[in-house]
Amino acid sequence: MTDRDRPATGEGGAVRIAALPGDGIGPEVIAAGLTVLRAVLGPAGLRCEVTTHLIGGAALDACGEPLPAATLAAAQAADAVLLGAVGGPRWDAAPVRPEAGLLALRRGLGAFANLRPVVVHLGLEAHSPLRPERLQGADILFVRELTGGAYFGRPKGVAGTAPNRRAIDSMEYGEAEVRRVLAVAFAAAERRRRRLTSVDKANVLATSRLWRAVVEEVAPEHPQVHVEHCLVDSFALRLLQEPRAYDVVVTENLFGDILTDEAAALTGTLGTLPSASGGGTGPWLYEPVHGSAPDLAGRGIANPLGAIATVAMLLRHTLGRDDLARRVEAAVAAVIRTGPLTPDLDGTAGTAAVTAAVVESVERDVAA
Ligand code: NAD
Ligand code: IPM
Ligand code: MN
Repeated sequence: MTDRDRPATGEGGAVRIAALPGDGIGPEVIAAGLTVLRAVLGPAGLRCEVTTHLIGGAALDACGEPLPAATLAAAQAADAVLLGAVGGPRWDAAPVRPEAGLLALRRGLGAFANLRPVVVHLGLEAHSPLRPERLQGADILFVRELTGGAYFGRPKGVAGTAPNRRAIDSMEYGEAEVRRVLAVAFAAAERRRRRLTSVDKANVLATSRLWRAVVEEVAPEHPQVHVEHCLVDSFALRLLQEPRAYDVVVTENLFGDILTDEAAALTGTLGTLPSASGGGTGPWLYEPVHGSAPDLAGRGIANPLGAIATVAMLLRHTLGRDDLARRVEAAVAAVIRTGPLTPDLDGTAGTAAVTAAVVESVERDVAA
C-alpha cells in the first residue's frame, strides 16, 4: 500500500519532492515542513531536491488554470508531492475554482486512499471541547476514499435561470473503487488494533448499499479484523461520545471530508493533523488536513505542526524511514507538551518559533 519500493532516483540519490504551496497559509506551513524535513534528512546522510510549482488560486492568477500541465507533470515525476492548501475568498466567484486543481491532482496521481490519522497527544486534551477523560489515548486512522463519489460525479453544475435554477451533483461508486480502498483499510487495521468501522448511509443511499455489500464480501478474507458498520449520522455522534472506541474508520469521499474535520475537534485544532494519499501508480501526495485559513494568511501565526506531521508521513510511506518519521513525531509531541504553541492552541508563538522548536528537538534527539 505504500510506494516505499519506489527508489529515490534524484541526482546523487536525493529525494525529489514536488512542493505545491498553494494559497493562504499553504506557503507558510510548507516552508515549515521543508525546514524540518531538511533537519531530519541531513544527519541521516540524505538529501532532498525540492522543486516548487503552482496550484490553486496562485496558478489561476498566473496562468488561468488551477492545475497547470507542468505542475501535474512535475508531481507525477517526483518521489513525493507535498501540498499546502488551495482556495480562498479571492477566488470564490471564479468560474473555475482553485479546489478543482486539487481534485484533478488527486485524480492525476491515482491517490484514491487518503490516510488521516487523528491522535490526541498528551497535552492536547486541554484544548479540546471534549472532557479529557473521554479523549486520553484516542488514536484513529481515517481511510477516506478520495477520487470518487459526489466530488467526481457527472453530470455536475447549475442550469437554468432564476427563479428556476437547478443544480446537480451525482454520487457514483463502482465496485472496484470500493474494493481497492477497502484493501488499504483492512491492511491498516491488520497492522493496528484490528478493528474496522465502515461508515455509510446504507439506509438511504444506493452507493452506500453497494459499499456495505462489498465490505461484507471482503471481510471474510480478514478474519482477524473485527468489522462493524455504522451509519454516518450516528457515527458523527459516537465519534464525539466515545472516540477511543475506534481504530480504523473507512468511508467514502464526502463523509470522510466532513468526519475528519469533526475528528480534528478532538485535538482542539485543525492545525496539527497530517494526511497522506496514494494507492495508484503515482507518487504519494502529502497534505495537512487543514485549508488555506484565509483568516490567518500572511500573519505568521499558522500552526505548522500539521504540515510537519505530514512530513513524518512522507518519511514513513515514501522513504520507508520509520525511524526518521518517529523522530519528527516525537519532536511534534514534545513541542505540544512544552510549547511554544500558536494561538489556535492558546499560545502566543508564531509559525517560525514553533518550527524552530521542532527542529531543536529533532537535533537534540540526534545528538543524544
Ligand atoms: P480552513 O481549514 O482553512 O480553516 C478552518 C479553521 O481552522 C479556521 O478557523 C482556521 O483559522 C483554522 N485553521 C486551519 N488551519 C490552521 C492552522 N494551520 N493553524 C491554525 N489554525 C488553522 O477551512 P475553511 O476556512 O473552511 O476554508 C478556507 C479555504 O481553504 C477554502 O477555499 C477551502 O476550500 C480551502 N480548503 C483547502 C484544503 C486543501 O487545500 N487541502 C482543505 C480544506 C479547505
Ligand atoms: C480537504 C479539503 C478538500 C476536500 C477541498 C479543498 C477540495 O476540504 O482536503 O479536506 O474536500 O477534499
Ligand atoms: Mn476538508
